[in-house]
Amino acid sequence: MSNAIRRAAEILRAGGLVAFPTETVYGLGADASSAAAMARLYRVKRRPSDHPVIVHFASPGHAFAWAREVPEVARRLAQRFWPGPLTLVLLRSGLAQDFVTGGTDTIGIRVPSHPVARAMLEEFAKTGREPSGSGVAAPSANRFGRVSPTTAAHVRVDLGADVDVILEGGASEVGIESAIVDFSRGRPALLRPGHITREALEEALGEPVALRDEEAPRHSGGLERHYAPATPARLVPSHALDAEIAKLDARAAVLAFSKPDERVDYWLRMPRDPQGYAQRLYAALRELDGAACEAILIEAPPDEPAWRAVRDRLLRAVSAA
Ligand code: TXA
Ligand code: MG
Repeated sequence: MSNAIRRAAEILRAGGLVAFPTETVYGLGADASSAAAMARLYRVKRRPSDHPVIVHFASPGHAFAWAREVPEVARRLAQRFWPGPLTLVLLRSGLAQDFVTGGTDTIGIRVPSHPVARAMLEEFAKTGREPSGSGVAAPSANRFGRVSPTTAAHVRVDLGADVDVILEGGASEVGIESAIVDFSRGRPALLRPGHITREALEEALGEPVALRDEEAPRHSGGLERHYAPATPARLVPSHALDAEIAKLDARAAVLAFSKPDERVDYWLRMPRDPQGYAQRLYAALRELDGAACEAILIEAPPDEPAWRAVRDRLLRAVSAA
């Protein structure tokens, strides 16, 4: 085990903030059992205190200790997809306190697969008096409402000196946040689509997964204009892209599957497969945002189930405040 990991676990124990890589996006971690650490986390993140955060664990056993009951179906998903890019929302146990759950009666739990995240979580659990008490609350390591970070460099730009340490772990492989499945109200519901598709979840469960229910507990990924670049961005159907570029008299940055025929000031080519696209998405949005243009035009990906998670993030990136 490296010194960096040992040091990160010590910092967490002492109530500090550790940014760390996960397979989805980089997280901003704090000891989920410490009111003071959590208060600092919310402050740095500039997140409203009634928004719950996801707690990360070294193993399913530790994670489930934070739930007061674990439905058989939730266990089935954990078995199939943990460690990995899936968050389960369950009724909380006494370990999950109000300062983590935003005062709701539920807790979001996840066992990530990134080797650096796993090593850190294991070391953190070892240093605790009670291993099951060792959860690391971690929202994405960006300021509230901005594009999530998928590299350590993104975190440095966003949070810089506000974090005690940033663990390096390369570019996140999945590139978009975990899928969130809520089991707290009986029938499973997909609160946030992710790399693991609704269809894959349904197959593993052998039952339908409802789409996000408007009545579901508050979750900031469900707010309008999340994951948003500062430059105004628009989604444009493929067939209209050149016409829209031609109409603009502002400097435009374009995210497209192929080179536009019309001249543009800045453009990036995106992969035609949803996994490749997701992996590159946030870095691409950051790059376009930094291109000193007045508008960002995004060629819309196909309206197909495999693209649901990517389209969800794009719709949020372009939705006006
Ligand atoms: O992939 C991920 O999940 C990343 C990495 C770091 O693990 N984390 C992440 O956290 O995306 P955050 O806080 O940026 O987004 C968590 C989402 C928010 O929309 C939050 O409100 C929702 O999960 N959430 C957390 N706990 C919840 C709960 N008990 N009930 C409903 N929604 C919850
Ligand atoms: Mg986030």
